[in-house]
Amino acid sequence: MAQGEIIAGFLAPHPPHLVYGENPPQNEPKSQGGWEQLRWAYERARAALDAMKPDVLLVHSPHWITSVGHHFLGVRQLSGRSVDPIFPNLFRYDFSLEVDVELAEACAEAGRRAGLVTKMMRNPNFRVDYGTITTLHMIRPQWDIPVVGISANNTPYYLNTKEGLAEMDLLGRATREAIAKTGRRAVLLASNTLSHWHFHEEPAIPEDMSKEHPQNMAGYQWDMRMIELMRKGRMREVFKLLPQFIEEAFAEIKSGAFTWMHAAMAYPELAAELFGYGTVIGTGNAVMLWDLRAAGQSLLGGPAAQSDPRGRLVG
Ligand SMILES: [Fe+2]
Repeated sequence: MAQGEIIAGFLAPHPPHLVYGENPPQNEPKSQGGWEQLRWAYERARAALDAMKPDVLLVHSPHWITSVGHHFLGVRQLSGRSVDPIFPNLFRYDFSLEVDVELAEACAEAGRRAGLVTKMMRNPNFRVDYGTITTLHMIRPQWDIPVVGISANNTPYYLNTKEGLAEMDLLGRATREAIAKTGRRAVLLASNTLSHWHFHEEPAIPEDMSKEHPQNMAGYQWDMRMIELMRKGRMREVFKLLPQFIEEAFAEIKSGAFTWMHAAMAYPELAAELFGYGTVIGTGNAVMLWDLRAAGQSLLGGPAAQSDPRGRLVG
């Protein structure tokens, strides 16, 4: 069996507006474009991913919400129509995807051993949420790489940020263990927006970019501060600030994908590459890459995999 590898992690947000702006054949509503800077950012991310040739993409989505435990897609082929309940006018997407069920089961098992409640999703007619679909479409529109889809258990909201993110830390470390055990060469996708203050009314033409800007100054400044730290690889500081960022910028990162991803990567103090930043209905979105392979930190099973990242997570 090949040695397991986490090649890279992407911050890969999921506003359905990006799919709408692109007009792929799978999406029924058609647009005049819009949100180009973020879509061009994703074009660059696509090229980076293409060069990595991973076996599997793992995505944690805030919009597959499970009240009890952390769920994993567990049906090999899933297809159907995914509709955004908030923006059904923008996103009605016919998806068809292949799931790496063996890796998903290994993640669920490792999570259970770590003390989490985990469950495999076995409904063959399951409608995959728009967060998962948008992130996967934007990063790999060819849909030719198997995926592992992970739900967002709402513990950060039911309990509190600290306890909830501690669960996501466990989930990330379990994911790392499962990738090592199955020998996959994996890429991780954190499907999260940064500042999440948003407008409450949509323009008459949704893609009218003269109406698009940050919802408020504080949210924008928080995004710039966090992105700058990430670009410098000062990830300890990022995680130290995370609870305050979540609180003051209403950051969607609260739902856990970002923490899950960095826990799985063993919290590298590694500079991220920013592909681009833009707002969508006022929320802040960044497409970013932590390239572990390029940094020589991707292979699992060596000394790096045995070091316990616990304690690196603050907040
Ligand atoms: Fe969202």
